[in-house]
Amino acid sequence: MTGRLQNKVAIVTGAGSIGPGWGNGKAVAVLYAREGAQVLAIDMNQAAAEETAEIILGEGGQATACQADVTDSEQVQAAIQQCQQVYGRIDILHNNVGIPDVGGPEEIDETSWDRALAVNVRSMYLTCRYALPVMVAQQQGAIVNISSIASLRSIGYPCVSYSASKGAVNQLTQNIAIQYADQGIRANCVLPGLMHTPQIEHYIRSGYGGDLDEMIRRRNELVPMKKMGDAWDVARAALFLASDEARYITGTELVVDGGITCTIA
Ligand SMILES: NC(=O)c1ccc[n+]([C@@H]2O[C@H](COP(=O)([O-])OP(=O)(O)OC[C@H]3O[C@@H](n4cnc5c(N)ncnc54)[C@H](O)[C@@H]3O)[C@@H](O)[C@H]2O)c1
Repeated sequence: MTGRLQNKVAIVTGAGSIGPGWGNGKAVAVLYAREGAQVLAIDMNQAAAEETAEIILGEGGQATACQADVTDSEQVQAAIQQCQQVYGRIDILHNNVGIPDVGGPEEIDETSWDRALAVNVRSMYLTCRYALPVMVAQQQGAIVNISSIASLRSIGYPCVSYSASKGAVNQLTQNIAIQYADQGIRANCVLPGLMHTPQIEHYIRSGYGGDLDEMIRRRNELVPMKKMGDAWDVARAALFLASDEARYITGTELVVDGGITCTIA
């Protein structure tokens, strides 16, 4: 199917990738563009935003790179303004930015807690705060927030700030969904499970998980389908929620996890 987002303008935050390959944000930005959307690719890393925009332009799509830290109010406001100046509207707000943080309340320090909550939730609050007036004026919009199965269940090791922040993402989304339901604006979450992305490799390599190959084997083994998903699995779920095919779906939590949450009581 093509053209599922024809004539739509999409903002994707964290549209680059933390390492080589396809992260969730990079894949969704490219997939949205392949389906006809004009994409504002936001990333705090200018080169990463440009790389994604260049992939889209190279495929004949439309994209603009935008450097912004989405935890910063002024930078978010400037990015929203840039989207309106360049494309004239905002149909889809896809909030992908999020970082893992491993440890219980005694292990992580306060700086780490504050950082996780700022990157994972404040960022989404800010983009919604400044994109919603545009959507209200249009009486149309779709917000897709990337949460995690860690918002629902313990994922086998302590990660209090990550789980708490992703739980907050779910409720942020549900509140917006209800408040704006009669104004043509939908808000939904995607809850990825264990995905094989550059982010996971990056954090295992930087000391969280020990041996990379062993960690990948263990993560594959935990999934009923016996393999982790990838960034395209997350992107395809988001595409559905962002498109008009999901026009009667709002406030939902779409789990994309190969069945793993069914195995966790
Ligand atoms: N990979 C998994 O197994 C998994 C599982 C569940 C949920 N998730 C969620 O997926 C999302 C991230 O996926 P990804 O693969 O794109 O990650 P990623 O680490 O590759 O990040 C994508 C981009 O986000 C940018 N970024 C980080 N902080 C930013 C900020 N403050 N402002 C602007 N840009 C910023 C980075 O520069 C990077 O280019 C997160 O919300 C994460 O919690 C991932």
